[in-house]
Amino acid sequence: MLICRMKITFFSSQPYDKIAFNKCNENFGFEFEFYETHLGPHIVNVIEKTDAVCVFVNDKVNAEVINALAAKGVKTIALRCAGFNNVDIEAAKANDIKVCRVPAYSPEAVAEHAVAMILTLNRKTHKAYNRVREQNFSLNGLLGFNLFEKTIGVIGTGNIGKAFCKIMLGFGCRVIAFDLIANRDLEAIGVEFLPLMDVLKDADIISLHCPLMEQTHHIINKETIGMMKKNVMLINTSRGGLIDTKAAIAALKSKQIGYLGIDVYEQEEKLFFRDLSANIIEDDTIQRLMSFPNVLVTAHQAFFTEEALSQIANTTLINIHEFSQQEILTNKAAQLA
Ligand code: NAI
Repeated sequence: MLICRMKITFFSSQPYDKIAFNKCNENFGFEFEFYETHLGPHIVNVIEKTDAVCVFVNDKVNAEVINALAAKGVKTIALRCAGFNNVDIEAAKANDIKVCRVPAYSPEAVAEHAVAMILTLNRKTHKAYNRVREQNFSLNGLLGFNLFEKTIGVIGTGNIGKAFCKIMLGFGCRVIAFDLIANRDLEAIGVEFLPLMDVLKDADIISLHCPLMEQTHHIINKETIGMMKKNVMLINTSRGGLIDTKAAIAALKSKQIGYLGIDVYEQEEKLFFRDLSANIIEDDTIQRLMSFPNVLVTAHQAFFTEEALSQIANTTLINIHEFSQQEILTNKAAQLA
């Protein structure tokens, strides 16, 4: 075991974070303190004698928080996720605080969740489960279709898209893909790279695996939905902003979209990762989406496997250990590199 005499304070920590980090820490020996609340100006003053803060996607690490962290002697901000849009990198730089992240973890976890969404929407296992529990053994309304020989369109063939293509080839599907750069390894195993419009036009099922950027914001909109096959299945495990949700709702109503599976949602930060079961949801768009029988919403759980959590914990602690050893930070947030 390495002896890492540093204290790490965690924010937005859930019980599963504590389990994964405590287990991984058997190899490091850091001192941990966990807070369930988000990091923000309201809580930053409770931090005492800590070397690093460990944060997640919805923690607000703005300049005010970073200045306060610096005044408390915090030297590093370790994100236990890939994105770092919630951290003011310039403020961290100005305060000589290092920012590191987990750039990649278990692409198979996300790819497999996309497949779970396809199978659920198609074979309606969620409905069958409830029916049988109520002693309703009727099959009416549960009719699905074979995936075998269907055409699957993949937008973005990076780590996750690649893993997804391989699974769908295993089902005996024709896999067509669009990416800015065609992947030769995927071509060699049978994936056809086509222009975006052809992928949209030919696919029975479309799965999104490209990042959210200016060019991809609302890549699925009224016009592109109009190019798709009638009754298409659309799956999004990437980022909510890829889909114009209002256009998707209109297409569900007109039956242009036959099935929609989303693990991410444009306004998810106000909803996901919380138990709101006793609350009134003010977001009418998500309520409308959830009212369709052919829409499946999961709350950003595609990454959520034991393997991914363990990789996240391990990479985060390696990042902080590298910092403590004054080594070059392998996973420094890009803009600081
Ligand atoms: P990656 O960086 O390995 O792959 C992204 C791919 O998208 C690259 O091949 C890139 O060339 C391609 N791309 C970029 N711009 C494009 C465009 N305009 N059109 C088509 N393709 C384009 O990323 P990775 O690891 O595969 O992750 C993909 C996305 O999955 C992430 O950006 C993230 O938003 C999301 N994600 C979701 C998770 C979840 O729990 N739901 C967990 C982890 C990631």
